[in-house]
Amino acid sequence: MQERDLPLHAIGCINRQEKPPGQRFLCRRIACKGLVMSHLLVAHAIERRFDNGVLALEKASFHLEQGEVLSLLGASGCGKSTLLRLIADLDVATGGRIDWPGGKPKIGFVFQDPTLMPWATVFDNVWLPLRFAGVSRKAAEADVRAALDLVGLEDAADLYPRELSGGMRMRVSIARAVVDRPGLLLMDEPFAALDEITRQRLNADLLDLRAKLGASVLFVTHSVAEATFLSDRIAVMAPRPGRIVAVHAVPFGRRDEALRTDVAYARLSAEVSASLRATMEPLTRANAGR
Ligand SMILES: Nc1ncnc2c1ncn2[C@@H]1O[C@H](COP(=O)(O)OP(=O)(O)OP(=O)(O)O)[C@@H](O)[C@H]1O
Ligand SMILES: [Mg+2]
Repeated sequence: MQERDLPLHAIGCINRQEKPPGQRFLCRRIACKGLVMSHLLVAHAIERRFDNGVLALEKASFHLEQGEVLSLLGASGCGKSTLLRLIADLDVATGGRIDWPGGKPKIGFVFQDPTLMPWATVFDNVWLPLRFAGVSRKAAEADVRAALDLVGLEDAADLYPRELSGGMRMRVSIARAVVDRPGLLLMDEPFAALDEITRQRLNADLLDLRAKLGASVLFVTHSVAEATFLSDRIAVMAPRPGRIVAVHAVPFGRRDEALRTDVAYARLSAEVSASLRATMEPLTRANAGR
């Protein structure tokens, strides 16, 4: 595959609104200060029926606050990826609507698979979205280095993907999604393929990154532990058709490793697990009756 064949969404590059590099950082800070605690997006009764008749989403409603991490947790096939794709304008809903009360921000998309170009260095992989937007390598240098710095890869700019561990590849993918300073980061099971220790490290790093960027994050995961550690709120989805059936607030202030063994953390994880199990019971009963 050639670079020119890569669809923009495959590299996490969505609805780009170009600004000169120097302005990007300034705009982001002002936007963050002015819009704290307001709704970034409100999804009203989203429906997505595919041409083959599958009703992937029906009456899926939720909101995302400015600056928060909201996790979407749900069984396989309940429409999590479909919902992210609709938010990123990679697909079109067949019903309902998505409102952006403060205006639609730039969106970065991180997929489960890092989808790096094997023939390009880390620097050039991260530069790619800016390159597609017409920013020269030289003009992009400061932004690319800043993005690599944000994900802790400042010394890896000249390496090739084959020289990276799985966790480093995912960091490159995240750097590429944030190089343009998005206001909203959509993450579709980004850490699912990683070992537990790497995953936990990246969970903590993602929270640092969110704080530095001031971005909101919509994070898809199957892991209750990950959702409870990362999120400000957790939206539990039920399948067939996909919809949001419960939202759990996650009240913890500190998010360090000690939290993972905290009693309150264990209690909330158990509540969220019960909520998730309840969405699967109708399916389990239906399968048992066959
Ligand atoms: N392009 C498509 N055409 C037809 N059906 C589709 C299409 N994309 C998704 N679906 C169906 O829509 C439903 C939701 O799919 P989706 O990929 O959003 O689920 P998911 O919650 O992300 O699952 P997973 O956790 O396994 O990634 C599934 O039944 C899937 O088969
Ligand atoms: Mg999915």
